[in-house]
Amino acid sequence: MNDLAGKHIVLGLSGGIACYKAAELCRALVKEGATVQVVMTEAAEQFTTAVTMQALSGRPVFTSQWDARPGNNMAHINLSREADAIMVAPASADFMARLVHGRADDLLSLMCLARPIDRVPLILAPAMNREMWAHPATQRNVKQLRADGATVLDVGAGEQACGETGDGRMLEPDELLYDLTRFFQPKPLAGQHVLVSAGPTFEAIDPVRGLTNLSSGKMGFAIARAAHEAGAQVTLVAGPVGLPTPRGVGRVNVKSALNMQKSLDLLVPSATVFVSAAAVADWRPATSAEHKIKKDGSGEVPTLSFVENPDILVAIAASPRAKSGELYCVGFAAESHDLEEHAQAKRKRKGVPLLVGNIGPATFGQDDNALLLVDERGMKELPRAPKLVLARQLVAEIARRLST
Ligand code: C5P
Repeated sequence: MNDLAGKHIVLGLSGGIACYKAAELCRALVKEGATVQVVMTEAAEQFTTAVTMQALSGRPVFTSQWDARPGNNMAHINLSREADAIMVAPASADFMARLVHGRADDLLSLMCLARPIDRVPLILAPAMNREMWAHPATQRNVKQLRADGATVLDVGAGEQACGETGDGRMLEPDELLYDLTRFFQPKPLAGQHVLVSAGPTFEAIDPVRGLTNLSSGKMGFAIARAAHEAGAQVTLVAGPVGLPTPRGVGRVNVKSALNMQKSLDLLVPSATVFVSAAAVADWRPATSAEHKIKKDGSGEVPTLSFVENPDILVAIAASPRAKSGELYCVGFAAESHDLEEHAQAKRKRKGVPLLVGNIGPATFGQDDNALLLVDERGMKELPRAPKLVLARQLVAEIARRLST
C-alpha cells in the first residue's frame, strides 16, 4: 500500500530484548515506503547490532553524539530536523526516565530533547518487565512524558522474556506499523462512535447446513479500520468471516440476520454513525431443524420454505435518532447491473442520506473495488482501488457530510 511513502522516520532503539522486534519493524517501515534512519543507544547495541539495522534500513546507523561523519558534527540537530517522526522502539524504563528529566547524555536522548517539539512528534513504544512497567515511578514518567507532548503507545500483555507473564511487552511490529500509519492519518471522526456491519449472514437449515452468500467482509473491515484511523471509536458487527479484527476496533461476531439485528439494536443507541456494509440474507428458512436432516435413501428431497428477514437498515434509519440527524446512516447496495439507477432507488427505499453502490460480482472476495456514492445531491464515483484506499475516501466523505 505504501502508506508511509515520503515519510522519513527516525527509529530509535534503547536497551531491551525487544530490540529483536525493532529489526522487523524497520523492515516493515521500509516496505511501506518510509525512509528510516536508525539511532541506537549503547545498551541497544548489547541486544542487536548496528550492522543488522544498517542492512535493514539501507543507511549507516548513528550510535554516538561524537560521530564525526556529519560536516557540522551535530548529528542530534541534523537527524531530528529531517524527521517526520521519531519513534523509539523499544523505549526502556531507563530511557523514558531520562527523557522525563531532559537528560541528554547520549545521542538518542540528546536528539529527542533537541527536536523541534511542535513539528516532530515523538512516539514511544515501551518495553520492560511487568513489575518495572507497573512501578509507580514508570507510570509517573509515562504520565509526565504524555504531558510533555510525547505519544506513549500501549504495551502488550503476555509472556515476557524473563519468564513472567503480564503487561509490559513491546507491541508487535505490525501493531507498531499500524499505530504509526494511524498517527499520520487526519482525524475528522474524532469524538464519533462508528458502528459497522460486515460480512455475510448464515441462515441455518439444520445444525450442520445453512444458506449464506459470497460476501467476504473485506470492505466492511476496511471501513472499520479507516474509521479508527480517522479518530473514531469503532465497533464492528461481523457475520461469519475469518478476517483478523482491525487494531483498536471492538468486534461482535454474529451468525444469522436475526443475531445481527439483535447486536446492532443493542449498539446503535450509543453510535453516531452506522455503516451497513453487511450482506444480510433477504430470506431465512421458515424453520431450522433441531437435528441433522437425514438422507434416508428413498430419493425423497426435503422442501425448504422461506420467510423474509427484517430489513435491519430500514428499521435503524427510521429510528428517531437517525431522523433527527444524531445518527448518520450509510447503506450499501451490491448490484449486478444499472448501478446508478438501482442505487438512487435503493437510497430512497432505505431512507438513508448516503448509499454506496458497488457491482456485487466484481467486489465479493476481491481486495479492490470501485464505489458509487449516491446522496440527495447526486452521485460521485470512487474509481477502482484497494478496499482500504476506498474505505479512507468513504470515511472522508462521511466526515465531510457530518460537518455540514
Ligand atoms: O436490499 P438490499 O439487500 O440490496 O440492501 C442492501 C443494504 O441493506 C445493505 O446496507 C445491507 O446491509 C442492508 N440490509 C439490511 N437488512 C436486510 C437486507 C439488507 O440491513 N435484511
